[in-house]
Amino acid sequence: MNRSIIPLLCSFLLLSASSASAFNITKILSQYPDYTNFNDLISKTGLASEINAKSTITLLAIPNGAIGDLTSKSNDVVKKILTTHVVLDYYDTMKLQKLKDKTIKLTTMFQESGKASNDQGFLNVTAKDNTFVFGSAVKDAQRDSKLEKSVMNQPYNISILGISQPIVTPGIDSPLAPSSAPPPKANTPKSSPPKAESPAEEEAEAPTKEDETEAPAPSKDADSPSADSRPADAQSPSSSSAEKLKISFGFFVLLASTVAAY
Ligand SMILES: *[C@@H]1O[C@H](CO)[C@@H](O)[C@H](O)[C@H]1NC(C)=O
Ligand SMILES: *[C@@H]1O[C@H](CO)[C@@H](O)[C@H](O)[C@H]1NC(C)=O
Ligand SMILES: *[C@@H]1O[C@H](CO)[C@@H](O)[C@H](O)[C@H]1NC(C)=O
Repeated sequence: MNRSIIPLLCSFLLLSASSASAFNITKILSQYPDYTNFNDLISKTGLASEINAKSTITLLAIPNGAIGDLTSKSNDVVKKILTTHVVLDYYDTMKLQKLKDKTIKLTTMFQESGKASNDQGFLNVTAKDNTFVFGSAVKDAQRDSKLEKSVMNQPYNISILGISQPIVTPGIDSPLAPSSAPPPKANTPKSSPPKAESPAEEEAEAPTKEDETEAPAPSKDADSPSADSRPADAQSPSSSSAEKLKISFGFFVLLASTVAAY
């Protein structure tokens, strides 16, 4: 038993050694105090190990001062946002400078997740007069995350570029929510009258249901066939009870007269 397990264990150890991370992004970022919040988020979302599994990557790091409300968003949303900051290629400042005055499209880790629609998984970087601006490749997305500095690089495996502010990808988080909210609001006035009518109908139906439920109760006392013969008529319970009242009054008079007779 032990002899069969040992080779298995050895091959497992070898496998895990060969697939071991080329770098430890958590460890690398921990050397830069400006990016502690960013580092925390990368660990918290489990993105660190996914980044470590790559051999070629460019990380667009958000400094503590610009992290904003990223720390208060749900893990799922933060992870999606952060994966748009991980470029699946190597770009350092030297390589960016070769762009001259061009715009190029970059593929991010969000594209790999399969959750991206349209151009959500891509970034555009525009080089102009030696300044570099990153933004989502989604049409009309804001493009104002400027390259601030090269944090570190290890050609041609990992490059960490400091950017001025988070890249906003329309539709990943709140940016799309307010723009998609007005259409339902515009629809609600149209749909609310029928909705207002339907509760009224339900309310109108409810008393009749109550009448119906009340109706069977007396019908048990009275003869049930007559109560069943006219169920839909709302007046039937009142008329039948009036009849019953007449009958019972008549019966009382008859009883009283017979008692009086004795
Ligand atoms: C660097 O990247 C190359 C090519 O992608 C890869 O073969 C190599 O293993 C990587 N080196 C490290 C230390 O990750
Ligand atoms: C990466 O570095 C951090 C901090 O030094 C450490 O806690 C963690 O265990 C390391 N992860 C791996 C996979 O080595
Ligand atoms: C992004 O860059 C590509 C390549 O230059 C360009 O074709 C595309 O129009 C750009 N997208 C936006 C939204 O600017």
